[in-house]
Amino acid sequence: MARRKKIYEGKAKTLYEGPEPGTIVQYFKDDATAFNAEKKAVIEGKGVLNNLLSEYFMLGLTNIGVPNHFLKRLNMREQLVRSCEIVPLEVIVRNYAAGSMAKRLGIEEGTQLPRPIVEYCYKDDKLGDPLVTEEHIAAFGWASPQDMDDILSLALRVNDFLSGVMYGVGIKLVDFKIEIGRVYEGDFQRLIVADEISPDSCRLWDIETGQKLDKDVFRRDLGSLTDAYTEVAKRLGVMPKTSAPMGKPTLIN
Ligand SMILES: Nc1ncnc2c1ncn2[C@@H]1O[C@H](COP(=O)(O)OP(=O)(O)OP(=O)(O)O)[C@@H](O)[C@H]1O
Ligand SMILES: [Mg+2]
Repeated sequence: MARRKKIYEGKAKTLYEGPEPGTIVQYFKDDATAFNAEKKAVIEGKGVLNNLLSEYFMLGLTNIGVPNHFLKRLNMREQLVRSCEIVPLEVIVRNYAAGSMAKRLGIEEGTQLPRPIVEYCYKDDKLGDPLVTEEHIAAFGWASPQDMDDILSLALRVNDFLSGVMYGVGIKLVDFKIEIGRVYEGDFQRLIVADEISPDSCRLWDIETGQKLDKDVFRRDLGSLTDAYTEVAKRLGVMPKTSAPMGKPTLIN
C-alpha cells in the first residue's frame, strides 16, 4: 500500500495530499488545545464529531450558494476538500460578547451586541494570533481591499446561515471563527470558506439554560467535551439520537 504524503500536521487536523491535483484530505484528530496550545488533551471522539459537523455546515453553505472547500466526506475522520491558499487571517464574527472581546472591552459575557461585529486576527501562533485592522491587512498585503469586501460578505452570510440553523435547534450562536482560502480559476481568483466549522471554532449556548456546547467546555473545565459536541450533533440530526458510537466498546451481559 502506498503511503500518502502528509502536507501539514496542525493542532486539530492533519492534511494529506488528495487523490487528484487541487485536493487535500483533512483528517480530524482527537487532540484539543486551548490558550495557544498551553492546555492540551486528547478527547476521544472529538475528531469524528467535528468531521461530521463540519461536513453538515459546509454542505448547508453550498446549498445556499456560499462557496466553500468541502468536496466529500471520505470516512468518519476524513473529508476531501479543495486545496486553497489560506488568507493568513482568522475571521471572527460576534453576535454576543464573549471570550477575548468581553475581556478586552469590559463587556459582560452574553451581552447581545447591537449588530454582528467582525474582527480579524493575524494567523501567527508565535504571536498569539493578534487582533489587526483592515489598515494592517492592506498595508502588509495579506488581502486586498476588494478581498476584504468579499471576506466580509462571506463572513456575514455564514453568520446568518449558522445563526438560523442553530436557533432552529435551540442554540444561540454567540460567535465563530472561519478561515478563508484563495482558489485560482484561469485568470480569476475566488475566495471560499475553508478550514472547518465545528464546535471547536464556534461558541454555542443552549438558548434555555445557557449551557455551553463548544470548546469553552474544555477551556474552562466545564465537563465532558464529547457530551457537549454529541448534543449539538444529535440536535442537528447529524447523529442518531440514541446510539453512542463515540464511546469505548461496552460489554453486554
Ligand atoms: N482547503 C484548505 N487548503 C489548504 N489548507 C487548509 C484548507 N483548509 C484548512 N487549511 C489549513 O489546514 C490547517 C488545519 O490544521 P489545524 O486546524 O489543526 O491547524 P492549527 O494547528 O489550528 O494551525 P493554524 O495556526 O495553521 O490554523 C490550518 O493551517 C488551516 O489553515
Ligand atoms: Mg486550526
